[in-house]
Amino acid sequence: MIKAMRIHENGGPEVLKWEEIELPPPGDGEARIRHTAIALNFSDVNVRRGGFYIANPLQFPVILGNEAAGVVESVGPGVTEVKPGDRVAYVGVNAPFYEKTGSYAEQRNVPASCLIKLPDGVSERQAAALMLKGLTASLVINRNFKPTPGDTILIHAATSGVGTILSQWSKHLGATVIGTVGSQEKAEIAKANGCDHTILYRETDFVPEVKKIVPEGVSAVFDGVGKDTFIPSFDCTRPFGWLVNYGNASGHVPPVDILLLAKKGSLIITRPAYSTHVAVPAERDAACAELFDLVKQGVLKVESGTTYALKDAEQAHRDLEARKTVGSVVMIP
Ligand SMILES: NC(=O)c1ccc[n+]([C@@H]2O[C@H](COP(=O)([O-])OP(=O)(O)OC[C@H]3O[C@@H](n4cnc5c(N)ncnc54)[C@H](OP(=O)(O)O)[C@@H]3O)[C@@H](O)[C@H]2O)c1
Repeated sequence: MIKAMRIHENGGPEVLKWEEIELPPPGDGEARIRHTAIALNFSDVNVRRGGFYIANPLQFPVILGNEAAGVVESVGPGVTEVKPGDRVAYVGVNAPFYEKTGSYAEQRNVPASCLIKLPDGVSERQAAALMLKGLTASLVINRNFKPTPGDTILIHAATSGVGTILSQWSKHLGATVIGTVGSQEKAEIAKANGCDHTILYRETDFVPEVKKIVPEGVSAVFDGVGKDTFIPSFDCTRPFGWLVNYGNASGHVPPVDILLLAKKGSLIITRPAYSTHVAVPAERDAACAELFDLVKQGVLKVESGTTYALKDAEQAHRDLEARKTVGSVVMIP
């Protein structure tokens, strides 16, 4: 028997239950992973709530989560990719991230083809903090807009999990970074993570504040907040600038009239998903290798986020929804 955090119905954080379950031996092509660090993601909250992008009805009970790191305990028939004792991490298991979940557990059987072996110098806690959020930052920077010296970038919710990595990485690439944040305390954290300027966007209109810093407008906006920030950001972006909406912490971005992009300066908008970025295994592995190198170089510092015990996942969800967390949140079984 192992312990897992399950839900038997959709609802608030109180529906999370810490329960004993039986885990069968790993099946064909699977490896049994003893989790040592489990990621908390905004998507987990959406699955718990029964959120807007759940296409197929959930079959309860459901173990939440789809990203973790740990050690291979045993392998099923036909597994050649890993062996017992290997340190590994994974994000998603051959389905949309919010389907086939199950990482909020002490152990889990995972298709071996989904596992990434961790190199020396990258801890399991760092890997759990890095996989989805780092691959999302990699998607934005490598597929959409790569900042260079001379660019000014606006990063919304700069102390969020993805926002922290985008801030560190954009600064490393030589950009001037403006971060919006929800509190003065978060402003200090954002500065420590590479933001040259911070704006308290819950108290002030960020558009004129950005224009004061960079009157011609920013080269790109990286936005995981969505509804509250994306369209207003058109007014602080330079002509031909990029607006990347990778998330929706405040809700869906409303539909955009494409003619608005011409009127606002021939802007470029995109709404990328990490799953496209990692769909080809060789490209996924290359993206992970780049992230691990950036961690080893000290460019990405992901271990300073918030940590909870897995059995306290209910509190972790409450804090995430109350905008109290900073950086990548990791839960320890
Ligand atoms: N495209 C993809 O493939 C992909 C991949 C990963 C994540 N995402 C999405 O990207 C978004 C950010 O993910 P993350 O892991 O970086 O998030 P996170 O660490 O949980 O941070 C979210 C932050 O958003 C801000 N926020 C603004 N309005 C909010 C609201 N109404 N409720 C809660 N938070 C609000 C808060 O910062 P302040 O207090 O500073 O405002 C909060 O701390 C999520 O929507 C997530 O689902 C997308």
